[in-house]
Amino acid sequence: MYKAKVVGAGSYSPETIVTNRDLEKVVDTSDAWITRRTGIKERRIATGGLLTSDLATRAAQQALGQAGMDAQDLDLVVVGTVTPDRQFPSCACLLQEKLGARKAASMDVSAGCSGFIYALSVANNAIRCGEAQHALVVGAEVLSGVTNWADRGTCVLLGDGAGAVVLSRTDEDTGIKAIHLRSDGSFGHLLYSVDQNGTPRQALEIVPGAGEPKPFYLVMDGKPLFKKAVECLEEITRWTLDKAGVKVEELALMVPHQANIRIINALAQRLGLSEDKVYTTIERYGNTSSASIPTALAEAVSMGRLAPRDKLLMVTFGAGLTWGASLVEWSI
Ligand code: ACO
Repeated sequence: MYKAKVVGAGSYSPETIVTNRDLEKVVDTSDAWITRRTGIKERRIATGGLLTSDLATRAAQQALGQAGMDAQDLDLVVVGTVTPDRQFPSCACLLQEKLGARKAASMDVSAGCSGFIYALSVANNAIRCGEAQHALVVGAEVLSGVTNWADRGTCVLLGDGAGAVVLSRTDEDTGIKAIHLRSDGSFGHLLYSVDQNGTPRQALEIVPGAGEPKPFYLVMDGKPLFKKAVECLEEITRWTLDKAGVKVEELALMVPHQANIRIINALAQRLGLSEDKVYTTIERYGNTSSASIPTALAEAVSMGRLAPRDKLLMVTFGAGLTWGASLVEWSI
């Protein structure tokens, strides 16, 4: 069976910065509370009509550039997102068109904040079984479009952005060594979307004037989610390391989902991983859901934090509940 290796990484964060001080004017909160409880100082917001597929396009172009590859070489485009431009066509198809990836098959993966690792798994399997030679994997979100700006419990957490990697088939014993995915729908009530009436999306009655389609927003029960996140992240990290035959002390870098600095620190502490081996961007970008891992990864790569043969762990947790991890031997 073939293997898949990362040959390029890229990211795009919108230019508009919203600081904690800005949010003090919107809801009853403070910079001190947000910083202490989450580690977030500011986040980026996609203004000027930028859509998820626009952010994804910029991140993907950077990743393709690093890979030295043309979009037309891609066989597969997979986008992890909970905020596609539209329900359909998929964000991946819109991205395919914007990139000019003519011969690719394209699809979205919806797995909450775990969307990127789930998308990585889809692309990895397509390459391993010979279905694709080159695949683009993207995590992209415009969460500001589904944020309830009156809810201080969630609006201070979220941000917009996109990150991407290009995977290529290899015969060498390197690249993606393990991916493990999990979900548990019985905890779906801890983080979900509702429309403006507080209901799940449902068929509109076929009665004139019965109702316009409603935008949806995000609802979260943060405290139990926090506890569950730390447990699941530790469990799946250990499982994935074990499957790859890698010890914690062999890790060069961990790039976790950026939901809360206290979750990240608790995970690192449980694993016995020192702070300098954990890459965080939450202070500057907040929680960008599916985009958080690939954005942080691309930044880490640009900062020279990974060298060929380094062992990289990516681990995530999100709505579903879903969680997942991947151990990658770096190859750029
Ligand atoms: N500013 C000021 N006070 C606030 C704010 C705010 N922005 N938000 C909540 N509070 C208040 C609450 O009202 C509460 O007040 P009370 O004690 O008078 O009732 C108090 O602060 C404590 O609230 P908690 O919700 O218990 O605060 P907690 O310390 O748990 O932090 C947080 C909340 C940051 C949401 C945390 O629980 C968390 O990070 N949870 C996990 C998030 C997560 O992992 N999500 C999954 C992935 S994200 C995704 O999929 C999009």
